[in-house]
Amino acid sequence: MSGPPLKSLALRTLQHIYQRTGNSLPLIGCGGIVTGKDAVDYARAGATLIQLYTSFAYDGFGKARQIKDEILRELDGRKWSEVIGEEFKAK
Ligand SMILES: Cc1cc2nc3c(=O)[nH]c(=O)nc-3n(C[C@H](O)[C@H](O)[C@H](O)COP(=O)(O)O)c2cc1C
Repeated sequence: MSGPPLKSLALRTLQHIYQRTGNSLPLIGCGGIVTGKDAVDYARAGATLIQLYTSFAYDGFGKARQIKDEILRELDGRKWSEVIGEEFKAK
């Protein structure tokens, strides 16, 4: 399985791992990332970095720039490092 159907499962898995490892390991979020919002969802769940495959394969070389621009809009002036694991810090 790859692409968007994978996102909820992969996010849940990342959340479990982040809750158990905290900031002690860099975690790479991967699975169904198509938009900047998807990428930031992974950061908020604990991803230090993200990786994509399927959306890059379908949408081509411009995908990295598109997601980077969308991430900047999603972050609205904040830094990526500030949102890592944010959904747990807010609790
Ligand atoms: C055609 C294809 C080949 C892949 N080859 C590998 C591989 O060699 N090693 C690996 O660890 N993951 C491989 N993956 C998994 C991807 O790296 C990624 O974890 C998975 O596709 C989920 O991300 P995505 O939704 O962005 O595609 C492959 C995925 C696809 C679709």
